[in-house]
Amino acid sequence: MAKRLILMGPPGGGKGTQAKRLQERYGIPQLSTGDMLRAAVKAGTPIGKQAKAVMDAGQLVSDDIMIGLIDERLDQADCKAGFILDGFPRTIPQAEALDKLLASKNMKLDSVIEVQVPDAKLVERITGRFTCSTCGEGYHDTFKQPKKAGLCDVCGGTTFSRRADDNAETVAARLAAYHAQTAPLLPYYEGKGLLHVVDGDRDMDVVTADLEAI
Ligand code: AP5
Repeated sequence: MAKRLILMGPPGGGKGTQAKRLQERYGIPQLSTGDMLRAAVKAGTPIGKQAKAVMDAGQLVSDDIMIGLIDERLDQADCKAGFILDGFPRTIPQAEALDKLLASKNMKLDSVIEVQVPDAKLVERITGRFTCSTCGEGYHDTFKQPKKAGLCDVCGGTTFSRRADDNAETVAARLAAYHAQTAPLLPYYEGKGLLHVVDGDRDMDVVTADLEAI
């Protein structure tokens, strides 16, 4: 049976970390709208050009762009067995559009999971994050260092990068956007009987076990 879920939570809450684990475990793709936008910025596409300044300011890219991206992505063959939405929807109009898109594609959501982490913990998580430039494996200065310094555990790559929006100032704007525009989705999904809440302020493996149980 197809598994379709949304991972919600604040910036740096661990959505990407956990989505990658669930992707491996269940063979369903992580659909990260942040990754899609960063790829568009890197490729210099018209969407990327529009999105860059908005992302660097920690604000949200327009609903129309995001809904268009997800509409196309859900039609790809690898979404037939399900998907993990990571970073979408982020506004009530996006959630309403998703409901319509899924209905038109004969798909139904199974769960929406909020990974809860207190704001005070998020700045350290985000400013310490870095990624292997070759395979995209994620690391952290304190919480997840490569086994051998300077060498990616997964692919042996030696170059790493940090995101342009991972600085303390932009994190404050991203958090404000989360509380003002995205948190109202929690009661929206609770009302539909789909919402589960997981304490994300624990060891990564413990969080994964909770998600798998759901
Ligand atoms: P996006 O890329 O979605 O960023 P985000 O929501 O801010 O989330 P992050 O990727 O920062 O955090 P995460 O929850 O995935 O945490 P992670 O697992 O990496 O969006 C970026 C921008 O794109 C937005 O600001 C916006 O402009 C735009 N955008 C994207 N989607 C949009 C949409 N739908 N509408 C409009 N605009 C949109 O973990 C963070 C760090 O903590 C890592 O280093 C990790 O190793 C560590 N960590 C994870 N779990 C734990 C743990 N349990 N204990 C200790 N450390 C941990």
